[in-house]
Amino acid sequence: MSDNTQIILVERPNGPLKESHFEIRHGEVPKPGPGEALVRSILLSQDAANRAWMAGATYKSAVNPGDVMHGYAVCEVIESNSPDLQPGQLVQGQAGWQQYAALPANALQRCADHRPLTRLLSIMGIAGKTAYHGLLNVSGIEAGETLLVSAAAGSVGSIVGQIGKIKGARVVGIAGGAAKCAWVRDELGFDACIDYKSAEMATALTEHCPDGIDVYFDNVGGDILQSAIFNMKYGGRISCCGAVSQYDGGPPTSPIGIPGLLVIKSLRMQGFLLMDFMDRDADAERDLSTWSDSGQIVIAEDVIEGLENAPRGLIGLLAGENRGKRMIRVGPDPS
Ligand SMILES: NC(=O)c1ccc[n+]([C@@H]2O[C@H](COP(=O)([O-])OP(=O)(O)OC[C@H]3O[C@@H](n4cnc5c(N)ncnc54)[C@H](OP(=O)(O)O)[C@@H]3O)[C@@H](O)[C@H]2O)c1
Repeated sequence: MSDNTQIILVERPNGPLKESHFEIRHGEVPKPGPGEALVRSILLSQDAANRAWMAGATYKSAVNPGDVMHGYAVCEVIESNSPDLQPGQLVQGQAGWQQYAALPANALQRCADHRPLTRLLSIMGIAGKTAYHGLLNVSGIEAGETLLVSAAAGSVGSIVGQIGKIKGARVVGIAGGAAKCAWVRDELGFDACIDYKSAEMATALTEHCPDGIDVYFDNVGGDILQSAIFNMKYGGRISCCGAVSQYDGGPPTSPIGIPGLLVIKSLRMQGFLLMDFMDRDADAERDLSTWSDSGQIVIAEDVIEGLENAPRGLIGLLAGENRGKRMIRVGPDPS
């Protein structure tokens, strides 16, 4: 077995993330301890939240300087000291930005049988399930309603809007740049898409949501959330999925008019974590698989080759380089 290439966070970023915050190291392939399995990473998820983990503890522990960068990956079991896992099985878990990891077997989840394996991180993985639960179980959406989605070309947003269309909503996306907006409209089937980098948001929302917004699926927080709140309909719902505009070192901003606007428009604003809905994952898997198999959902995947490109990939994701679910191919699929 070769050595274990690892990417270490060497400095806590205090501003936009740079490649110099990371270092590549070549260590030994670890030996699994009692109850552990040695796994080989195949596909590593790249998530906007990776950057938030560097700032401190969130829904998980912080990444600190000197740590192997944390990350979720689809892996193959190579060696196991647990009766629950066998060599050759596919598992997923927090394997980090490295080729090999020794992890407790109970921290690894057996993968469902989806091919290609990239689906385990896109439509059938965290992205698809976050979109599904955040839209259908947090805000709800009815046929004929207006749904606004930010980071609409990203992994979660691209699926949220397509589920909204399946449910009969009028869907307006928000994304950065004219080309991305055209892709969201023409390839993903949204009714409209606002380029937040060139449009004046208040004017654009009045133009594209003339009767107001029933549901806002918020991936970004900040100024876009503020504009959406002003344009919500009476009785509207806001699904707070994340705040990517705040992750990469920008000054934290909070919307004004809260709770006043929530009161006078009778709005419901609710944060959620994917894990809140674990008991309904079977519904999500059934519906997402039906919709993708029938071609009702376009699956957008953005795969970068090579673990050494993970820092550049995450920096690019935060800058809006990706279309759909970005991931890193660390190693080949099992033969
Ligand atoms: N609640 C949960 O359980 C859960 C689970 C998974 C993900 N999430 C959240 O889902 C959101 C999307 O994450 P993801 O990992 O799937 O990333 P993603 O949407 O695939 O990529 C992030 C996108 O954010 C956009 N962006 C970056 N800076 C922005 C800014 N200042 N204003 C507006 N848009 C900006 C970029 O697109 P543009 O070119 O359009 O700017 C970029 O492509 C994040 O908020 C994340 O925390 C939540």
